[in-house]
Amino acid sequence: MAAELVAIEAVAGAAIEALLDRAFGTDRHQRTAYRLRAGTAPLAGLSFALVEAGALLGSIQCWPVRFLGDDGAEVPLVLVGPVAVEPARQQGGLGRRLTAAALAAADARGLNLMLIGDPDYYGRFFGFTAAATAGWRLPGPVERHRLLARGAGVPHGDGTIAPRVTASA
Ligand SMILES: CC(C)(COP(=O)(O)OP(=O)(O)OC[C@H]1O[C@@H](n2cnc3c(N)ncnc32)[C@H](O)[C@@H]1OP(=O)(O)O)[C@@H](O)C(=O)NCCC(=O)NCCS
Repeated sequence: MAAELVAIEAVAGAAIEALLDRAFGTDRHQRTAYRLRAGTAPLAGLSFALVEAGALLGSIQCWPVRFLGDDGAEVPLVLVGPVAVEPARQQGGLGRRLTAAALAAADARGLNLMLIGDPDYYGRFFGFTAAATAGWRLPGPVERHRLLARGAGVPHGDGTIAPRVTASA
């Protein structure tokens, strides 16, 4: 049976959390990306799961954040990830499929994206770069070369990235 892509709302939240614990470890909540999504919910329409015979195989979540420029400009952004695949099913293309689905949905809406991730992977396959992000401040430590963005409206200046509470995409 082939894995089916579904909206993440179709899957129990506890199952997603258990998958993320298996893929990232239970200390994952300390990461800077988690501070960026505090108080927000995954964006419907941009967050997906892969299921097969009722079993959850993978998930990707996207979150509403914003750039608050030192010049007063405010730009809504979408934080992409985490993407996680059940350990026993990794290396089979599922992670790439989840990421492609979320990015296609975001592009269809003309959204500006950011993520913290491997620049080789996200650059090579999906066109993300760190070119705009040098002046971005985050609520925790980040390796600058892993702070990536994509989109025509991504801000290039100095400013702070923060959760965008009570927002839709
Ligand atoms: C990273 C992960 C989502 C990739 O899913 P997958 O189904 O195993 O990957 P795919 O089969 O689609 O991709 C194949 C290739 O792309 C790489 N890749 C896929 N997604 C990636 C990602 N998000 N970041 C870096 N590399 C990735 C794989 O390492 C692999 O590279 P290789 O062929 O050179 O070994 C999965 O391994 C996982 O859940 N890992 C633990 C959690 C994690 O680190 N998530 C990424 C950070 S948000």
